[in-house]
Amino acid sequence: MHRRYGPICKEEALFNVHVINVFDKADIEKVLRSGGGRRHPVRPPIEAIVNYRRSRPDRYASAGLVNEQGEAWHFLRTHLTSDLTSPKTISCQLPQIQEIADDWCNFIRYKRDSKCVISALEGAAMSLGLESSCALVLGRRLGFLASTLSPVVQELSEAVCQHFLATRDTYYGLPWWRLFSTPAYRQLARSEETIYTLAAQLVRTDREAVQNSPVLKSVMNAPIDDKEKIAALVDFIAAGIYTLKNSLIFLLYLVASHPGAQEKILEDSSKSYLKACISEAFRLIPTAFCLARVTTEPLDLSGYAVEAGSVVVCHTGIACKNEEYFNNANEFRPERWLGEERQKTLSNATFLVSPFGAGKRMCPGRRFIEQVLPVFLETIVRNFEMDVVNKMELQFEFLLAPKGPTSMVFKERDWSP
Ligand code: HEM
Repeated sequence: MHRRYGPICKEEALFNVHVINVFDKADIEKVLRSGGGRRHPVRPPIEAIVNYRRSRPDRYASAGLVNEQGEAWHFLRTHLTSDLTSPKTISCQLPQIQEIADDWCNFIRYKRDSKCVISALEGAAMSLGLESSCALVLGRRLGFLASTLSPVVQELSEAVCQHFLATRDTYYGLPWWRLFSTPAYRQLARSEETIYTLAAQLVRTDREAVQNSPVLKSVMNAPIDDKEKIAALVDFIAAGIYTLKNSLIFLLYLVASHPGAQEKILEDSSKSYLKACISEAFRLIPTAFCLARVTTEPLDLSGYAVEAGSVVVCHTGIACKNEEYFNNANEFRPERWLGEERQKTLSNATFLVSPFGAGKRMCPGRRFIEQVLPVFLETIVRNFEMDVVNKMELQFEFLLAPKGPTSMVFKERDWSP
């Protein structure tokens, strides 16, 4: 679209709904600032989830943090995310995160074949995403990295996968689910129900977990309707796991395929190179490759008058590959985030390298991910010499994802600091 139509184009979507796509840094910034600076930026909701939750007033008091708008969204955001977004609170989780990273390395040893190849990294990365996100959100290790999964863990793992796929299938294509209950809609409802029931059960039966986890404790003690609390746990679980899985695969793949990167990570005790690898992976292959907003005021975008109430998609992922903003934009070059180049990169990166979104609707899981990814990467590189087996292809499935199965080599590393 960008190559064909230039910096802005209007797409006629279903039922006469227009979607405006923007690729230019100035336009992206204008859209994200205009909504972001306001009290209640609007992100188009996932309609099938809104519809399902409205049909279950016994369980849900609202559409939830991800899909609510206006004052209702602001109320939930204020009461549910203060500990999740606090670096201090999140840093308390670090010893547990280190333990999970160590266990994942053993999980890889157990799963790899005789040539040290993991032939479907997706499954292993998903287990790491589930274990770490559930530890954060539900306040205890559930055992997704064990050699055999307990029935509850198996059920939760399957429900999270189904939830993601059903969200994707109801979001794209014709919304037949509005007229009758399609298989995808039924799958969405079933998986929401399973995650909700398991989360409620785990919280109810383990009061200690609530005391041990500051994030869970702050959600459970929030002065809001009890139904909103469990709904928030469902939202956190659903929002965090696939995004983390994809981001981790992209990061490991890019580091493994960049000659010398693993050695530099090990040699640099300041961890600047490691952090640069993470920023560069988010620039080059962001799983959330675009950000959508419904504009709340009229805007001038690339000379076109865009009315308030328009759906605008900011293509941050494509803008990150524009040579105008980043030299050799298609190359993985962590060095651009270091030394003399750093300042220039940072000024161009504002609003473009936005893996967690921007403004008041930015991802509340950001602090957690920013703390866990360096721990994961460093631990993995210390344990293994990674190599890629074949070139990764990408696919759009709601998020940008590897078109798996992704094969990678994890050879034992002989290294001491
Ligand atoms: C690598 C991992 C992750 C990525 C790349 C990611 C990315 C994003 C993005 C792009 C948004 C939309 C922001 C916007 O519209 O400006 C978002 C929203 C959200 N994310 Fe994340 N996320 C990640 C992990 C997590 C985790 C671990 C949690 C929870 C523990 C979480 C919870 C949420 C929630 C609740 C929202 C909706 C916020 C709102 O509308 O107020 N995410 N995320």
